[in-house]
Amino acid sequence: MKRLMILSIAGLCSSLSLIAQNTESIPEVEALLSKMTVEEKIGQLNLVTPGGGVATGEVVSRNVEKKIKAGNVGGLFGVSGPEKIRMAQELAVKNSRLGIPLLFGFDIIHGYKTIFPIPLGLASSWDMELIKHTAQIAAKEATADGINWNFSPMVDISRDPRWGRMAEGSGEDPFLGSAIAKAMVKGYQGDDLTASNTMMATVKHFALYGASEAGRDYNSVDMSHLKMFNQYMAPYKAAIDAGVGSVMTSFNDVDGVPATGNKWLLTDVLRNLWGFDGFVVSDYTSLNEMVAHGIGDLQTVSALALNAGLDMDMVGEGFLSTLQKSLAEGKVTEIDITNACRRILEAKYKLGLFDDPYRYIDENRAEKDILTPENRAVAREAVAASAVLLKNDAGVLPISKTAKIALVGPLADNRNNMLGTWAPTGEVKYAVTVREGIANIAPAAIVNYAKGSNIVDDPEMAKKINVFGPRVMISEAFPEELLQEAMAKVENADVVVAVVGEATEMSGEAASRTDIRIPEPQKKLIRALESTGKPLILVLMSGRPLNISEEFEMPISILQVWHPGVEAGNAIADVLFGNYNPSGKLTATWPRSVGQIPIYHSMKNTGRPAGDTKEFQKFRSNYLDLPNTPLLPFGYGLSYTTFEYSALRLSKDEISANEPLEVSVQVKNSGDYDGATVVQLYLRDVVRSITPPKRTLKAFKKVFLKKGEEKTVSITLQPDDLKFYNNRLEFIAEPGVFEVFVGEDSNALLMKSFILR
Ligand code: NOJ
Repeated sequence: MKRLMILSIAGLCSSLSLIAQNTESIPEVEALLSKMTVEEKIGQLNLVTPGGGVATGEVVSRNVEKKIKAGNVGGLFGVSGPEKIRMAQELAVKNSRLGIPLLFGFDIIHGYKTIFPIPLGLASSWDMELIKHTAQIAAKEATADGINWNFSPMVDISRDPRWGRMAEGSGEDPFLGSAIAKAMVKGYQGDDLTASNTMMATVKHFALYGASEAGRDYNSVDMSHLKMFNQYMAPYKAAIDAGVGSVMTSFNDVDGVPATGNKWLLTDVLRNLWGFDGFVVSDYTSLNEMVAHGIGDLQTVSALALNAGLDMDMVGEGFLSTLQKSLAEGKVTEIDITNACRRILEAKYKLGLFDDPYRYIDENRAEKDILTPENRAVAREAVAASAVLLKNDAGVLPISKTAKIALVGPLADNRNNMLGTWAPTGEVKYAVTVREGIANIAPAAIVNYAKGSNIVDDPEMAKKINVFGPRVMISEAFPEELLQEAMAKVENADVVVAVVGEATEMSGEAASRTDIRIPEPQKKLIRALESTGKPLILVLMSGRPLNISEEFEMPISILQVWHPGVEAGNAIADVLFGNYNPSGKLTATWPRSVGQIPIYHSMKNTGRPAGDTKEFQKFRSNYLDLPNTPLLPFGYGLSYTTFEYSALRLSKDEISANEPLEVSVQVKNSGDYDGATVVQLYLRDVVRSITPPKRTLKAFKKVFLKKGEEKTVSITLQPDDLKFYNNRLEFIAEPGVFEVFVGEDSNALLMKSFILR
């Protein structure tokens, strides 16, 4: 039997093309549905957490056991370990009337126990195979502990480093973000969702969460549809095209309606336009939060959410407590309840849980699959690949393995801050500190360590940061004493390595900052170290682009390593001592000041563009106090070697629509080390019916070249790469001149143009 979905596009521009969904129904699911009471169907829409994970709201579910037995729960999250999961699954399978198995969800954002760099770091590798591999390992480890459903990937585009959750995503760019979304979904889900080492992925947070006003978490989003479709939506769609099993709604409103109750988003766009056939889960109590948003009482917002297309309610139990009443009052229909329930049962079916509810529960797997040396080796590579060399003053890096090193800074010997935000399943005890890593990689180096400063001195700030554990430990010693101790270590050193930056929980959820500089106590330390004139290398940890304008002016070197994960110290030492030549590139623009935010590479020209002159130009689009340019552009990152780009060629000067274009460029490793570069291609649509960005990333390729080696790198631009959404939201390319820029970052200068007929 086929179920033909009736399509409606209310509210969506009529010119957007529709995808007819012709979903095969699953006989086992239909048979089960026919036996279920309305109460049991509503029960499947309920997702609870007994606590134990990270509670990201004020409510934690109660009476979980009783509810499971009563058939009032469809899934559990925040629980791990075969024993606990088996117990919960048995409650559902053996004690509820129909024995429907539960989904077991968790936030496995950048690794399960083998914690990889935070996603913003991983993205900086621009290595899709590596990223996919990290997701495969995460799935293998998490499923070994009984988890079958993951709340990742987070693909929210963000151009606002004040927003702490930038750490969890891929940065500012929809093209790169789409490639990463696809790699992660494929990595988690594999080719066979029933395999015991793959899990269902969730793309989140739908939609536009990264554009929260003023970078304040959970805040409103107000954006034109043009901007949404051209700049923010692509990564969600890429995840859906890659077959993601579920979608999580976002906390923010979109066009004045919270995403969790937004029919235009959840039905018109997601299902009807994009053809998504999985299920939609709310974020943590985001359904109930519509009450505080001012949309209505709990019954009203619950009915609104169901009618909008939400299938599962995370923690808030608005569905559980009000849908029966709404049904009796004609505010929702049983068909809609059944449809939502069907999607959840289908997900369980796809995971193979009806064949074997205990499929993912194998007490023997944990030992052999979790935190293995092989997995750690991938993590070590990922940390090194994520590192971005921002500055290498006088070629100080790499340093000699026999150097005398003053190792200072509050993050240099600090295990508690290596894993980064959203690593609830990780254990800090497995993390390697930078101090340990240096000892492992360069045992002949002479290392003198001192903390030098606290991460922050303010106890109130420390309290906020320490919400999930002791991240900031304010020393008993006075700040001046800490500084003096560090300065004493510097005296006899050849080189100073200062490991500084943000504590783990200074970025991530509900960790917005209005001042994104390195905290002041550490800045004081850096100033003092710099004044000694010794070669100084900052190893910088953060979950966001920081404002490092002051440090960047100093004659020092800076290596950005994000929050690196379990293999932190080993991999950082690999980079510092030249075992690994850095090739990471920024995936978000680094501003000179918060005043420039939002700032990103695909900005438009304006009608009064500022010229290139250093002089201030009145009545031009600029600032009185700073240039328009960022401190560091999107795509930027140095290497220990140098690369020369030349001979940019296009296969044709003119193409017609639907014709691909071949682009080639010569790339030469002209320096002294083997290394990799990321060839980046940006496109400028010179004239079109809506104002074009100055340039947009349209392709990239990471290539490895031995010292002295030269390669021709070829990239094919596809017809869709020339397209954009116009004012009628048609996805089209318009004839005219296009400019192709190729190079090592978004300021790439090599340019050739072609005409689209
Ligand atoms: C809230 C977060 O926004 C979301 O990303 C996460 O998956 C849920 N909490 C569940 O932990």
